[in-house]
Amino acid sequence: MNITALEQKLICKTGKDTDCTIEICHNLLQNPTKYLHLTTDQLAIITDDNVAVLYGKVLQQNLQAIGLNAKLFVFPHGEQNKTRSNKEFLENQLLASGFGRDSGIIALGGGVVTDLAGYIAATYCRGVSLTMLPTSLLGMVDASIGGKTGLNVPEGKNMIGCIYHPKQILIDTAMLKTLPLVELANGMAEVIKHSLISDNSLFEYLETHVQELLALEPTVLEQVIFANCHIKWAVVQSDENGYKKRHILNFGHTIGHALECVTNYSIPHGQAVALGILAESYLCVELGALEQTSFARIENILLQYGLPLSNVLDFKVEQVIDVMRLDKKSLNGQPRFVIIDAIGSPRPYEGNYCTPIPKVLIEKALHWLIDNNALRRH
Ligand SMILES: NC(=O)c1ccc[n+]([C@@H]2O[C@H](COP(=O)([O-])OP(=O)(O)OC[C@H]3O[C@@H](n4cnc5c(N)ncnc54)[C@H](O)[C@@H]3O)[C@@H](O)[C@H]2O)c1
Repeated sequence: MNITALEQKLICKTGKDTDCTIEICHNLLQNPTKYLHLTTDQLAIITDDNVAVLYGKVLQQNLQAIGLNAKLFVFPHGEQNKTRSNKEFLENQLLASGFGRDSGIIALGGGVVTDLAGYIAATYCRGVSLTMLPTSLLGMVDASIGGKTGLNVPEGKNMIGCIYHPKQILIDTAMLKTLPLVELANGMAEVIKHSLISDNSLFEYLETHVQELLALEPTVLEQVIFANCHIKWAVVQSDENGYKKRHILNFGHTIGHALECVTNYSIPHGQAVALGILAESYLCVELGALEQTSFARIENILLQYGLPLSNVLDFKVEQVIDVMRLDKKSLNGQPRFVIIDAIGSPRPYEGNYCTPIPKVLIEKALHWLIDNNALRRH
């Protein structure tokens, strides 16, 4: 992919009659109607309390200033609030405010907001129009794209939800200026993952533009974000429901999710994914799929972007393996992994992208992760 030559507007075919446009915007909040394709003047902006203060009120005021009935619906930030009770709370507020079938929902926020507001849009009055304005890097490169919406229940993450595509995804990278560093790193872990599963040239670009990206240099940032939108959409388009090709998006997440679980979510998601990318790349080397030189580049790029930090990894290998048995890619309780045989090249296995790995190798990779991380701390 030639990252610098990508047109910064992508029209995604999401169904027989529907398209979703992904677009890079400038001054989106100050001039929303330049980009928003409005089919209604009843607009419900759903956001979390952090983003409401930073951007929600400005957006509401600028929409109201041109005569639109724009209302702000706010819930507390954080993964722990992506819940059924907040869905009900927001729906009750929408109903009480008289929002009907002809209204539109604008999801303004990170992935928690786009997941929850997306699910509300899918079911409110049997479905109202949805626009995503992602404000976190993870939201821009991942969560807003592909139509997956949902919420968490005590039994697990994203257990309730559906696929419902927005009409527009509008990205203004200026909003990343207020994003905390740890959240930027969460997004970068997914950016690096996207390059590993599909695009060697993006990986090289990430290697050569570290300073610009960390400084949020707008042109470089926009190019990288848009390249990621292309990658995510291409994977989704090939397998919307996620039974085959979409599995590749899980690279680094089999171990990453298990680490989050056994450490009781004390490791930030991006750090856990980075550790997962490292350990799963190590597995690829052990299998003879990936060259040692590529592995060294992967380790190096993660470090360049502050991933992973030197976490104290306090877990039992057996515990992690037990959690992985419940991973969505597991078959008959045996964990399966996405394997890459070069940077940008996932390896198919029996018509799928999940390879069963002998337990002894998984144990070796996890022990390596613990030892390697301990070394880094000294
Ligand atoms: N639907 C999908 O395909 C998909 C894919 C990946 C992740 N997800 C979901 O995304 C969620 C994680 O998303 P996230 O990392 O964006 O988390 P998040 O939405 O919780 O945002 C992280 C934090 O940053 C704050 N924030 C967001 N934008 C900001 C900004 N511009 N300035 C300052 N603060 C800002 C938020 O208030 C929050 O505190 C998870 O729930 C995950 O399941 C969904």
